[in-house]
Amino acid sequence: MAAVTLSGVEKHFGTFTALQRLDLTIADGEFLVLLGPSGCGKTTTMRIVAGLEDPSAGAIHIGERMVNDVRPKDRDVAMVFQNYGLYPHMSVEDNIGYPLKVRGVPRGDRSARIRHAAEKVELGPLLDRKPRQLSGGQRQRVALARAIVRTPQVFLMDEPLSNLDAKLRVTMRAEIKHLQNELGVTTIYVTHDQIEAMTLADRVAVMSQGRIQQLGTPEEIYDRPANLFVAGFIGSPPMNLISGQLSAGTFTAPQIDLGGLSPASSGSVVLGVRPEDITVADDADADFRGSVYAVELTGESNLVTVLLGRERVIARASRAWRGRTGETIGLRADRSRLHFFDRETGVRIGGAQEGNTSERDLQQ
Ligand SMILES: Nc1ncnc2c1ncn2[C@@H]1O[C@H](COP(=O)(O)OP(=O)(O)O)[C@@H](O)[C@H]1O
Ligand SMILES: [Mg+2]
Repeated sequence: MAAVTLSGVEKHFGTFTALQRLDLTIADGEFLVLLGPSGCGKTTTMRIVAGLEDPSAGAIHIGERMVNDVRPKDRDVAMVFQNYGLYPHMSVEDNIGYPLKVRGVPRGDRSARIRHAAEKVELGPLLDRKPRQLSGGQRQRVALARAIVRTPQVFLMDEPLSNLDAKLRVTMRAEIKHLQNELGVTTIYVTHDQIEAMTLADRVAVMSQGRIQQLGTPEEIYDRPANLFVAGFIGSPPMNLISGQLSAGTFTAPQIDLGGLSPASSGSVVLGVRPEDITVADDADADFRGSVYAVELTGESNLVTVLLGRERVIARASRAWRGRTGETIGLRADRSRLHFFDRETGVRIGGAQEGNTSERDLQQ
């Protein structure tokens, strides 16, 4: 096991820049998730660490060793691909044992290790089958077993669950988390699914357009998004983002007048507030009022979309709450859970209880 360091890594495909100066250290044993929308450079980053792609600039270290010129097979990383990458003509046993075979482990020594890896992912009875005789989830587990059969220094997993149905994804997520914990192998895991990122990661690197937008624990990223991109990307339903003016401790926007705020900054801002931090309130307590546009019962609560002039705001109400479309209701925002962003740059300029924290943010 080893730390992985990317220093000033760039990748250009012709005139197109896929990665812009990436600096990232994944600690020994850490579970790091690269999260971002399709096309932001996640797979490219993985392929560079694996050695399947050369960086245009920068260095990659695995442990103490700089691996830029080390062949993929000699980097001691195991990669799990989105499409599993199994050999269709080989049995489960031979698929799992393939990394041992190419490294010249004698046949006799292979079978015990294959059996051990297969048992870890509960594939023991299926070793004689061919991939086409397996379900999607079972194929996924073969790919995992092939990765763990030789305890590499680093696991690289590129959207390994995206071909599975929703229920199986949740089960496999827990299995991957458990396995990584048990093995303690440094893991870089790529996904565009923020729930997967939040549930699995020690730390998340949120990427957009070939750049890391924020690196932090799931809590940090959720509670203190560094900019509008991260604010809008993390959370489901997403954070409400409302353009307005901040001055003398009051945020104003059409139909919104939110006083008693502490941040020192002023000017054109975007207010961010998560649905769970806005509740339906009696007239006396309401910060703003609007008409109910839609009510959706999620099971544990109701999501209420409210029209405030042209803006739509999503609030969360208890599961017992009943509201009619078109009805005017009051809403109250939790003052301790507000976020403010500079409208020009999108950069976080603080929250209601942080004061003006832009300098502090930079130091973290
Ligand atoms: N071999 C290539 N040639 C040209 N462009 C590429 C190549 N590989 C990836 N790209 C581009 O680089 C960007 C990042 O791709 P990728 O890393 O696969 O994104 P992600 O995995 O985040 O969806 C995309 O715009 C993609 O089209
Ligand atoms: Mg990809």
